Amino acid sequence: MSKITSRILNTIVNDIKQEATALEGKIILISGGSGFIGSYVNAVLYLLNKKVFKNKCKVISIDNYITGSKKNFLLNIKDKNFQFLDGDIRLPVITNEKVDYIIHAAGLASPYYYKKYPLETIESAILGAKNLLELARVTKPESFLFFSSSEIYGDPHPEFVPTPETYAGHVSSVGPRACYDESKRLAETLCVTYHQIYKVPIKIVRPFNIYGPGMKHIDYRVVPTFIYNGLRGKDLPVHDKGVQTRTFCYISDAITAIFKVLITGKKGEAYNIGNDKPEIGMFELAQTIAEILGNGVKPRRKNYPPNYPAGEPQRRCPDLTKIKNQLNYAPKVDLITGLKQTINWFRQTYGL
Ligand SMILES: NC(=O)c1ccc[n+]([C@@H]2O[C@H](COP(=O)([O-])OP(=O)(O)OC[C@H]3O[C@@H](n4cnc5c(N)ncnc54)[C@H](O)[C@@H]3O)[C@@H](O)[C@H]2O)c1
Repeated sequence: MSKITSRILNTIVNDIKQEATALEGKIILISGGSGFIGSYVNAVLYLLNKKVFKNKCKVISIDNYITGSKKNFLLNIKDKNFQFLDGDIRLPVITNEKVDYIIHAAGLASPYYYKKYPLETIESAILGAKNLLELARVTKPESFLFFSSSEIYGDPHPEFVPTPETYAGHVSSVGPRACYDESKRLAETLCVTYHQIYKVPIKIVRPFNIYGPGMKHIDYRVVPTFIYNGLRGKDLPVHDKGVQTRTFCYISDAITAIFKVLITGKKGEAYNIGNDKPEIGMFELAQTIAEILGNGVKPRRKNYPPNYPAGEPQRRCPDLTKIKNQLNYAPKVDLITGLKQTINWFRQTYGL
């Protein structure tokens, strides 16, 4: 494990070790366990077993590797308490285990991939949620966490930026991003319906642009794209004018928030997770990364490429009041620190 990722994992374990005692000796099932976020969740559970838990937790991690990798970029987990299943969450989940925690993180998270695989995107969100909620109806877990997205808000009206959980959204059901936005929205509806009818203890997270070490160079989300191009001496491709804004949450803060919602979030409710500062334009983000790289690369505006879904939200920034007040969460890593660490990880990992 690299020093960078080892530091991140230790920070997370330290931040959540109090709440995490709830997971001691429990069985946790995660879909999408070989993706960017899932790999961190698995690595944190592995370290909690090693360092904190007397009674080890067991993990069942399911992934069909449509974008995930068989090799965990953090740790080579070979442990009898971890089962890595090559499985598709669009199909019913059959297990004899009495699962205590269920996490549905499988999905096509990058716009490039959900444009490439629109049906898989819809089905992984909706059928995946349905199959796992059915499992939950029978096994009665202590908590069920669904990974929704900030994209369910669509392109919010300016008076709703920063966007609170109560904002209903401004989304097209037939737009170029609908396969992602609308399937996450319906999967949220399925979750709250199972909560209402069957008392499944669902919780929903709506992440706002999580980034950090472990993102693939071919992920095509904005941070890895800028870093990978820049490190190879290429200009940083900014879509359109680059005035569209985002906020970026470093992976250690995001994983801490995810565990807090899983363990102590209110049943039946949704939480924004992310970092609310700074809300930054994409041209400015490219300039910031170019300055950190310091190798003469520059941002370069270009038209949206054909393999990228049009209609992206113009502004996106979370209102974090709910998670801050209810779950005692506050993002700790500022953008420059997080970018520097991510750049260093890319340098080491890709030999650039
Ligand atoms: N990372 C972010 O900034 C962000 C933002 C908003 C929402 N999310 C959501 O969080 C979740 C995790 O995101 P991530 O960044 O780790 O994405 P990721 O693409 O790195 O990982 C998703 C994983 O799900 C797997 N998968 C996809 N379809 C599957 C299926 N049918 N059956 C089994 N496995 C399947 C993929 O192979 C991959 O390993 C996703 O649901 C995503 O939509 C992430």
